[in-house]
Amino acid sequence: MELFMIRISLWPFSLAGLTSAVAAVLLLKCGGANAQTTNRYDSFRFGVCYYPEQWPESLWDRDASQMEACGVNTVRIGEFGWARIEPREGHYDFTLFDRAIATLGRHGIKTIFGTPTAAPPKWLTSKHPEILNVLDNGQRVNDQSRRQYTYNSTIYRRYCREIVEALARHYRDNTNIIGWQIDNEMNNENPDDFTDSARTAFRAWLRAKYGTLDELNARWGTVVWSQIYSDWNQIDLPFPTPAFHNPALMLDYRRFTSDSAADFLNEQVAILRKYRRGDFLTHNGVFKNINYYDFSRNLDIYAYDNYPTFDDSPRFLTGARLTMVRSFKGQFMIMEQLTGPAGQTYLLRTPRPGETRLWAMQTVAYGADGLLHFRWRSALRGAEEYWYGVLDHDNVPRDRFNDFKQEGMEMQKIAPQIIGSTVNSQIAVIKDFEDEWVSDYQFLTQEINIPKVYEALFQAASEQRYNVDFVGPSGDLSRYKVVFAPQLALMDKPLAERLRQFVAQGGTLIMSAESAIKDRDNAFTMQTIPIGLTNLFGVELDSFQTYQPPSAPSNAVHFDDGATTPVDVFAEVLHPTTARVIGRWQGDYLKNSPAATEQQFGQGKAVYYGSLFNLEAARQLIGRYAREAGLKHLLEGVPEQVEVTCRSKGPADFYFLLNHADSPITVNAGEGFVDALSGEPADSSLTLGPFDYRVLKRDRSADITHK
Ligand code: GAL
Repeated sequence: MELFMIRISLWPFSLAGLTSAVAAVLLLKCGGANAQTTNRYDSFRFGVCYYPEQWPESLWDRDASQMEACGVNTVRIGEFGWARIEPREGHYDFTLFDRAIATLGRHGIKTIFGTPTAAPPKWLTSKHPEILNVLDNGQRVNDQSRRQYTYNSTIYRRYCREIVEALARHYRDNTNIIGWQIDNEMNNENPDDFTDSARTAFRAWLRAKYGTLDELNARWGTVVWSQIYSDWNQIDLPFPTPAFHNPALMLDYRRFTSDSAADFLNEQVAILRKYRRGDFLTHNGVFKNINYYDFSRNLDIYAYDNYPTFDDSPRFLTGARLTMVRSFKGQFMIMEQLTGPAGQTYLLRTPRPGETRLWAMQTVAYGADGLLHFRWRSALRGAEEYWYGVLDHDNVPRDRFNDFKQEGMEMQKIAPQIIGSTVNSQIAVIKDFEDEWVSDYQFLTQEINIPKVYEALFQAASEQRYNVDFVGPSGDLSRYKVVFAPQLALMDKPLAERLRQFVAQGGTLIMSAESAIKDRDNAFTMQTIPIGLTNLFGVELDSFQTYQPPSAPSNAVHFDDGATTPVDVFAEVLHPTTARVIGRWQGDYLKNSPAATEQQFGQGKAVYYGSLFNLEAARQLIGRYAREAGLKHLLEGVPEQVEVTCRSKGPADFYFLLNHADSPITVNAGEGFVDALSGEPADSSLTLGPFDYRVLKRDRSADITHK
């Protein structure tokens, strides 16, 4: 029942939220009348985001038949349709969406309905301007766009519950609907909330967490700068102040924001489950101030919105993000995938021929079990005129349509083979959202960027042909052989114990500088750093130097195996108590002092690296310790420009080979593979064209050796 725990203990103030959350828990705990035992998301969904409300109805049937010809089995609709569904308060009109869903259904296309709460209608924002968000300068946002609301408003919550209930009730027997996306990209465009509603909610959240002001004052350390609170109403949101904020307040504000977002989501979960028990529920996108491990708990699958051209060379960044999204719930899909040129007031680079199909296959390579493109046809009007869809504005099918069709055909072939497969990794990176929130505010130097560290670790593993996972601070480590702990600033007893267990049972743990420095109150303690872990690592932090940007030329760690890795911001001087020194500082006044150590602990090894993990350090440490742990590379001898991942199902391994270069390349994959797309035996030497890919299947039980 862990799956269905809703964080109501921290959420006492919103009676509506509380009652619906309690209802959800009861409903889910009791299993309802027909407890759902099977996976609600059990087949590969391929398709597009579709906006029937933006097009004449005369186009719909042709749209649906063209989609069908492209292999589309699913569309997402409705997520910005509130003004059409409820044109006046309490007057519902579902007819447009009824007809659109039926038209699509006649072509075998199922619907994911988006609850429309990311864009309230004008009648609502005019009647209740207090549901609009407020910026940190106190200015209320204008309502002439989307994501303009505050989910801390009890008034807005009520309207949302009503529209979602009306929708779910109306569609309770509709067999063309298979799933629901709740809201759209929460915290995108608007991750903060300075409304009166948020202030009230924040105080209530703190009260539930701390119980008494004495407790809060003590744990926040409000004696500093005379900030002692004598009334809950004195506590405020982190508005701009002349000097800096209390880091404890900043961290709690983000926790509160995340809980609040989850509470908003869970209200809709409860309603949808009541009427549509068999449908899968999801939410799309990854943005600031949300702890997605908690947030996604009551969903069936998480969805990512993948727009690689926000980056010039997106290979590793996209791989890292897909890997991260996979870590939330194990299973994920893509709700919005880039289709072509894209922009709003700006314009991103246009994908080169072949890139969009490569990027689509890349999502599957990392575990996506579904893929919808944004969007079917490019919009003629409105804010997204420049965001190109499968079809151009003039509705003429051109290259993007042909690419999409080819992609659809390939997905049809590969989908039944890979659905139910998993990406099995022996290396993991612990990702704790709270550590990111700590460094969002106390960023220390302009160079520190935890997501960049995750990306570096991901890239180094990918370059060395290892699958890698991210895992939350309370995730199961026992599946892994090598675990990285990058900048785990906040340490608590359960996490320290999990790390100790992992090493004692034979794992290799590699922790960076700036880890285990504070407790969960975001406060230093009087224990020696790394707090709670000095025994495990056999090392104590003696002192440190912080080099200002760019720090890399300032110093380096020289390892006992001859490798050298440039410093990243922190050069920690370590005092080994029982650990063995494996690296020393190369220069500056720290020259020759211990910079990296390792120690045997139980069956495993605890490695301490006295700087942050940059790409060079990640390469060195993965190389050294994956080899030592006996990890096998996915494939050997594949040229660097080709990315490799592996999904496994029973005895079958599916190797994805993705050529990220605009030049052809020959890959000697070895014998014994079947091309999963053609079904034919694959040549041992394959030539991949520019941005080309192959999916090669090999049966482990066939005992075929491969190079
Ligand atoms: C996403 C959003 C979509 C659309 C798309 C392209 O962030 O969910 O509604 O705006 O970007 O801009």
